[in-house]
Amino acid sequence: MAGEVAVRNKQVILRDYVSGFPKESDMYVTTDTTVSLKVPAETRNAVLLKNLYLSCDPMMQFLIRNNPQQKMRKYVYCTPGSPIRGYGVSQVVDSSHPEYKQGDLVWGLTTWEEYSLITDIVPETALVKIHHTDVPLSYYTGLLGMAGKTAYAGFFEVCPPKKGDKVLVSAASGAVGQLLGQFAKLAGCYVVGSAGSKEKVDLLKNKLGFDEAFNYKEENDLEAALKRYFPEGIDVYFEHVGGKLFDAVLLNMKEHGRIAVCGMISQYNLPEPEPLKNLFQIALKRLNIHGFTHRDYDHIVPKYYEFVLPYIREGKIVYVEDIVEGLENGPAALVGLFTGRNFGKQVVAVAPPRP
Ligand SMILES: NC(=O)c1ccc[n+]([C@@H]2O[C@H](COP(=O)([O-])OP(=O)(O)OC[C@H]3O[C@@H](n4cnc5c(N)ncnc54)[C@H](OP(=O)(O)O)[C@@H]3O)[C@@H](O)[C@H]2O)c1
Repeated sequence: MAGEVAVRNKQVILRDYVSGFPKESDMYVTTDTTVSLKVPAETRNAVLLKNLYLSCDPMMQFLIRNNPQQKMRKYVYCTPGSPIRGYGVSQVVDSSHPEYKQGDLVWGLTTWEEYSLITDIVPETALVKIHHTDVPLSYYTGLLGMAGKTAYAGFFEVCPPKKGDKVLVSAASGAVGQLLGQFAKLAGCYVVGSAGSKEKVDLLKNKLGFDEAFNYKEENDLEAALKRYFPEGIDVYFEHVGGKLFDAVLLNMKEHGRIAVCGMISQYNLPEPEPLKNLFQIALKRLNIHGFTHRDYDHIVPKYYEFVLPYIREGKIVYVEDIVEGLENGPAALVGLFTGRNFGKQVVAVAPPRP
């Protein structure tokens, strides 16, 4: 059509459904297609996004498998031959949707390509408009995005610890964990983090204010390690990894202790989940275990921003990001989550915003 501009669109394509641990070769990067910088005239309620930052999230491994739930949630799952989907920060280039206009900055579900035409906006995939731009835009992939909402919901709604509680956080240096540790310190708790390298342990203790931290990969006896940091037991555990650590935690919980189950990353890519040996501790110690997903907490985002933005502006909450440049480095960054390659929140920078 006259006046319509089309540009090459770099994309990260899912080669085939993934089985086992995701690999870089499960995806490929191409510039074979072009995209018009206008929403097609006949397409209603659509937005054309220029993606600025993409978020690498452990949950994305569920989206790239041949999952039977796929048929029910087609707007989230990925199909071989198409760009993978995930959370990101984007700018609206053109819109036929009444709620979004050209130039708006948004965060939410997008596709891994330079430009995404989003035609299926439903409540579950609604794009959140970004109003606070005095903080780094990349924060809306993590601290002010899905991870932040998850940490806030886990801490303040699901398992709120009280002053003096002894709190353990696993995957503590990651997108969600680093926030939980800082929330716990603000609430007057004693907080210990587990992480997978010496550098991450140093980060937790020296930059993020955790009271203690340990490298779970160097502990032959996780039960003994937890006893060392919690001689009287754990009041609240924020669970992100599952497996052997969860088993050891069950033995070290206090009576009536509480566990918020947010994720179990050590189990996601295994052919069979590892068996747990200590489940009877749940009854013996009358533990309260609460599973949750961030999707139940969209409504708390405004309350969360009211809480967290002043702390960010005052430098009382810090956020460590691991930003790789360019879509072509996206696949390695994504699969790196499952070996602990990321140091803080893993982000892929795609393009700067238009001034
Ligand atoms: N329920 C929800 O709605 C929701 C929302 C967001 C996230 N989550 C879950 O929360 C957890 C953390 O997510 P995140 O976004 O904050 O990711 P992240 O911590 O930024 O990255 C994942 C980290 O997991 C650790 N890890 C990887 N494989 C592991 C293994 N086999 N054993 C132990 N640790 C392992 C690695 O850290 P180390 O180097 O320390 O091992 C890695 O850096 C995940 O389980 C995720 O699925 C749930």
